[in-house]
Amino acid sequence: MKELLVQRGFALLRNTGVIDAESFSSTIAELGIATAVHYGDLPDEGWPGVFRTTQYPPSESIFFHSEASHMARAPRLIAFGCIQPALAGGATPLSDNFLALSTLRPEISRALQSEGLCYERAFIPGLDVLWQNFFRTDDRAKAMERGIAEGLTLQWDNDDVLCTVSRRPATLSRANGQSCLFQQIALHHPVFLDPDLRTEMADICGGRMPRNVTLGSGAPLPDSWAIAIHDSQCRAAFTFSWESGDVLIVDNVRTSHARAPFVGPRHHIVMVSPLSANLSESEINI
Ligand SMILES: [Fe+2]
Repeated sequence: MKELLVQRGFALLRNTGVIDAESFSSTIAELGIATAVHYGDLPDEGWPGVFRTTQYPPSESIFFHSEASHMARAPRLIAFGCIQPALAGGATPLSDNFLALSTLRPEISRALQSEGLCYERAFIPGLDVLWQNFFRTDDRAKAMERGIAEGLTLQWDNDDVLCTVSRRPATLSRANGQSCLFQQIALHHPVFLDPDLRTEMADICGGRMPRNVTLGSGAPLPDSWAIAIHDSQCRAAFTFSWESGDVLIVDNVRTSHARAPFVGPRHHIVMVSPLSANLSESEINI
């Protein structure tokens, strides 16, 4: 499996016998993958370190992203378990981060590599998760403390909205000299919103969107660039159909993941390896 992860950036295991959080957790332990007990704001699945995948409207796509690439620490490996596949759709497309970067127009890849990105969030009640849920506290001071520990710049806006900025690289350079994309522009850039919703949100929020991403200098990331990056990830993508009992291990450095729209119930669970502040130099430890 390690060889597959190194060569392809993911490994799909079929008929593992995984039927719930407990059997998933023991399968991941048998594979020798260390896991984190807490991770972000994903809902718990009732077993330590096992989470429900992001709950997002089934009719919408979750676009390609590198997990936690907007934060100071990210997991090297992500394990997905399929308890129940969707009736239709619901794939987890995978995209090669090296290939996607290498096929970008040079001015875009140069800017991403030299400037990085600034991910901006405004925790506007009703438009995104509450800051209390995101930081797992009702205490403002504790939220600030936790945000700073995660490398965020935080401030309370005039109307009492918590705004955060996370300045992060958009690419990783590996020891072999190769660079790859490591970003989640498509989860933050307003060009990926429905055009009417984008206009409506800009009106409601006075130009301060709940999520946004700029170049590291603070200069806007042009819509056309965000789309070009997304398109290059789609061209570098591989997809498969889930079956119950599948376990997918993804190298979060090499491979971005997404979620296709789906119909019917869909139950997938996830575990992540311990978070690291230096994925550039990390190895796959199995
Ligand atoms: Fe994800």
